[in-house]
Amino acid sequence: MSLNKKPLKAKGNKGRKKQLLAQEIVHIDITKLQGIVPTVTAMSTMAFSARDLARAADIYDRMLKDKSCGVILTLAGSLISAGLKKVIVDMIRNNMVDAIVSTGANIVDQDFFEALGFRHYVAGDEFKSGMFDGELRELAIDRIYDTFIDEEDLRICDEVTQKIFDSIEPGQYSSRELIESFGQYLEDNDGPKCEDSIVYECFKRGVPIFCPAFSDCSAGFGLVHHLHSRQTAGEAHVSWDGGKDFYELTQLKIANPNTGIFMIGGGVPKNFTQDIVVAAEVLGHDAPMHKYAVQITVADVRDGALSSSTLKEASSWGKVDTALEQMVFSEATLAVPLIVGYAYHKGSWKSRKPKKWANILQSAVAV
Ligand SMILES: NC(=O)c1ccc[n+]([C@@H]2O[C@H](COP(=O)([O-])OP(=O)(O)OC[C@H]3O[C@@H](n4cnc5c(N)ncnc54)[C@H](O)[C@@H]3O)[C@@H](O)[C@H]2O)c1
Repeated sequence: MSLNKKPLKAKGNKGRKKQLLAQEIVHIDITKLQGIVPTVTAMSTMAFSARDLARAADIYDRMLKDKSCGVILTLAGSLISAGLKKVIVDMIRNNMVDAIVSTGANIVDQDFFEALGFRHYVAGDEFKSGMFDGELRELAIDRIYDTFIDEEDLRICDEVTQKIFDSIEPGQYSSRELIESFGQYLEDNDGPKCEDSIVYECFKRGVPIFCPAFSDCSAGFGLVHHLHSRQTAGEAHVSWDGGKDFYELTQLKIANPNTGIFMIGGGVPKNFTQDIVVAAEVLGHDAPMHKYAVQITVADVRDGALSSSTLKEASSWGKVDTALEQMVFSEATLAVPLIVGYAYHKGSWKSRKPKKWANILQSAVAV
């Protein structure tokens, strides 16, 4: 049976589309910003969110000073498309993070997408109203609030993920292993087609990336297509094993009991990372709660949901220690450059050695 694989073609005026996709989102470079340390320090004697942010920055710096602490970064929301990619790449390059747990959108649809040579674009203010979304649909332009993506590019990204799955030995893999194969793909194809890539930087430096809801992104379309074509041909296929993800991340907690978590947004990455304390216990280890924890979120505590739950609340579940935790109620594009910029310019990371946790995991997956 042949597959119905029609390439997406935009309708409407090509010139208009080109005009709308003219201005690229530029990623902020915290290494070049001056005066962040005195700014954040001055915020520490203010009130409200300024004081919370300064305390969070100090806690992150303490995680980096504490040499035995393994730092896990969690990502939710549309952070890479919003211009935060280089902040995260600078964290990876400078040993300021040891593992990443993310939504698939940030890692595949946005970072890997840019590594394939595609870009995110600035949408004018008038598009926020939603009045022009019908026209955008005709032009095959996707909108994330004030940002545009070319859906035709995104379809190519989906197809590349399928090509990668097609090239792997059939079997069950963690998202960490599958994302490493994305890094290998970039390596085999002359590297990323942009200056900075989270997937590629982690691949080169042995920093594992987990996407605990891996199929809920561009890679999901690649997986669906891979599975369909293999099943139709009666052949074995690659599948993503979510249990293996949890097992592998828990192995890191067991191997390195002292941990700190830096959470940007909430969602599945937040809970998955907090839960490894409990999972280590379930496996018979006396794992301490996460010693340090920072979360930046716009979620509202009144809904009682996971994304908004405070870190104090997490301590009632035995997941996070209460001494060094801080919630920052702020939109991430504002708070992240300040907090990471503060820690970067303080320089505590300079005496930190790379943990290269991906290397631990090679053996952890063996039966
Ligand atoms: N966001 C996208 O553009 C997109 C695209 C494709 C697939 N997906 C998939 O949808 C699922 C949900 O992902 P999601 O990224 O929308 O996260 P999410 O809706 O799970 O976000 C969880 C919480 O994070 C917080 N948050 C998000 N963005 C924030 C910001 N900028 N500043 C502060 N706090 C913020 C909010 O409180 C939100 O409730 C994932 O599996 C993802 O792969 C998302």
